[in-house]
Parts: sequence; structure tokens; C-alpha cells
Amino acid sequence: MEFKEVIGRRRSIRFFDRDRPVEREKIQTILETARLASCAVNAHWLRAIVVERDKLPPEKLSQLKTPVAALTLDLAPVHIYFFVDLGTVNRVKGSRLKELVDVGALAPSHGWSHKFVDDFVYPQILEPMTRNLEGYVPAAFADAGGAAQNALLAAFDEGLGACLNTPNPVLTKQVLGVPDDWISMWVLLLGYPAESWEAGGQRPRPDFEELYFDGEYGKPFKRDPAVVEKLKAANMIQAPAPLPGRREEIKKLTEELGLPE
Ligand SMILES: Cc1cc2nc3c(=O)[nH]c(=O)nc-3n(C[C@H](O)[C@H](O)[C@H](O)COP(=O)(O)O)c2cc1C
Repeated sequence: MEFKEVIGRRRSIRFFDRDRPVEREKIQTILETARLASCAVNAHWLRAIVVERDKLPPEKLSQLKTPVAALTLDLAPVHIYFFVDLGTVNRVKGSRLKELVDVGALAPSHGWSHKFVDDFVYPQILEPMTRNLEGYVPAAFADAGGAAQNALLAAFDEGLGACLNTPNPVLTKQVLGVPDDWISMWVLLLGYPAESWEAGGQRPRPDFEELYFDGEYGKPFKRDPAVVEKLKAANMIQAPAPLPGRREEIKKLTEELGLPE
């Protein structure tokens, strides 16, 4: 699928074919896309644990449910739990930046060398940053979030449906037994959709010009209708929800999957 169409076709899928397994190859592809995400100081905070729903003891599955993501956990055959490994920066101590120097991604023309990393970047920026948790934690989460977004898009490119959810951070850590310095972030619920790929249409968003500004706060970045038309032609901007027949689709899915109305 073309990039713009992947963006356009992605929407949170919450009705899955609960009995259709997801091929391991597709799960790996999804993880590979997360690994290739850009990442501040090449630190790579994102960690993932792939859970096959049917291999999880029922009591553990129950513990992982939240009020806003209980049924979806039952329906999705694969759950990828994302964590942020806060310990990574002080374990690798600038070595991943030096790898970038070695391969010519960070060049001397821009001030980069092993010495710059060892004498300045790690001891004066990175290590102190990890002690300022108020700044460090949001930065690491934002970074890992970008990588998880790659994974989310890859799921749709692979013909799957997916929905990101926020699990209970304490229970997730307990149930999955992760190291102390991993913080729970999101879970990517994954499977073949039981609903149509349109899933009722593209979901509502705030107005473009309410979100983005041109040069200064308060001056909206003007949305050019000609660009919108181009993006519609590329299937990135699609028909908005609700599409006709969505209520009926939900009713049918509810009956077919034996769900409460
Ligand atoms: C980080 C994150 C956490 C989310 N958590 C939940 C959740 O716990 N339960 C849920 O039903 N949807 C969850 N969603 C899905 C959003 O509610 C979704 O963005 C919204 O339904 C409409 O947008 P979309 O269909 O284009 O994704 C989450 C989405 C993101 C990105």
C-alpha cells in the first residue's frame, strides 16, 4: 500500500475475528518498523512483549483488562505490550551516538566525534538528563510513542486491524514481569478485522487550523483546499464517519460475535 493510503486507512479497529491467528511474519514486520523509527540520541527506549491471547492464563488476561479495553482484549488474538526502558541511556553511555559517528550519519562538520560524545554529550547532557525525571520521562515516552506509531501503521499495511490502548501500568508490569526500570506505555491490540476495513469511516478530528500555526501562535496555518483534494485522491483523506450503514454493521457484529448490546 502507498504510504498516504496507509495513513488514510488506519483507524482504531475494535471488532476482531477472534479465532483468526496473526502470522508470526506479520508480527515481526510490525516490530521491525518500530526498530527503524528515528530516535533521540539513538537511544531506543521502546521495548515490546508480544502476547498471544490464547497462551495467556485467563486470570492474567483478566488482570490486564481495563474499563475502556476489556472486550477488545478478548477479541484481539495478539497484544503487543510496549514499555519504555528508562535505563537504556546510562547503560549505553553514548555508544550508540558513537556508532552514528562511525557510519558517517553524524559528521565532524556538525561538531561530532567520539571525543565530543565522551567529554560533552554523555556526561554533560545525557547523564544529567536521566536524573531530571520530570524532563527525562516525557522525552523517553514521546520517543517510544513515535516508534509505536510506526508499528501501528505497519499493522494496517500488513492488512491487519489494530487499536492502541493504555493499559494499567502497575498490573502490566506485574503480570509480564518486566525489569524495574521499564515503564508501561501502551498495548497494541492486533488481529484481522471482523468489521469492514472502512469501519464506519475516518474518525472526527479537530479543525486543521485550530491545531497548526504559521510562524506564530494565533495565526493559523491556512489549509489549502487544493491540497486536501490531492490527499483525497491519494486515499489519505477519506470519507468521514459515520458512513451510511455503520449502526447496522455494529448491530450485525454484535450478534455474530455474541457480544452484549
Ligand atoms: C495512546 C493511545 C491510547 C488509546 N487508548 C485507548 C483505549 O484505552 N481504549 C480505546 O478504546 N481506544 C483507545 N485509543 C484509541 C483512540 O480512542 C482513537 O484514537 C479514537 O478512537 C479515534 O481515532 P482513530 O479511530 O482514528 O484511531 C487510544 C489511542 C492512542 C493513540
